[in-house]
Amino acid sequence: MTDDGSDATLPDIAPLIAPILARVERERRPLLIALAERLAAVRYRGWAEEPALRAHRDALLACADREERIAASVEALFPDAEAAQAEIARRHPELERANRELFAGRPLRDQLAIQARAERRGAETWRFFAGEADDRSRARFAACAPLEEESAAILEAILASGVAPNPEPAAKPSAGSSI
Ligand SMILES: [Fe+2]
Repeated sequence: MTDDGSDATLPDIAPLIAPILARVERERRPLLIALAERLAAVRYRGWAEEPALRAHRDALLACADREERIAASVEALFPDAEAAQAEIARRHPELERANRELFAGRPLRDQLAIQARAERRGAETWRFFAGEADDRSRARFAACAPLEEESAAILEAILASGVAPNPEPAAKPSAGSSI
């Protein structure tokens, strides 16, 4: 276990993102995190379709919405957000790769635990940006943190309620079943 109570054997997104972030101009760093939020939204929508997570579908879709709200709110601070993000994505393909490889081939339970920790890291990051920001951006970055924590809490509650460690095998008809 780590200080934040998460499983220390699972990878942490922060050390993967930090070196990429360091290579982006300081004022554009929030846009890189906003890109990561959009990648996370896609993941949440995928999890919402998992049969093993059917009971949590609406909560996972609400997490996806929160990720997109965070991204949109931050992007709105930058008049050239779209072009700047396209450039960041082009210059740093390792962001998308790190996001993908972090989760690839892992059981759902681990994927959700990794994402829960990523949301807690996200909250810390937005508070850090708020601390460095000018008056115009400060409140907006600060407002992202509780949204991240809300999603972390949802994931932690799902994990506490029990998620199968491996994807469910396809249902087989039982012996003697006529359908
Ligand atoms: Fe997030």
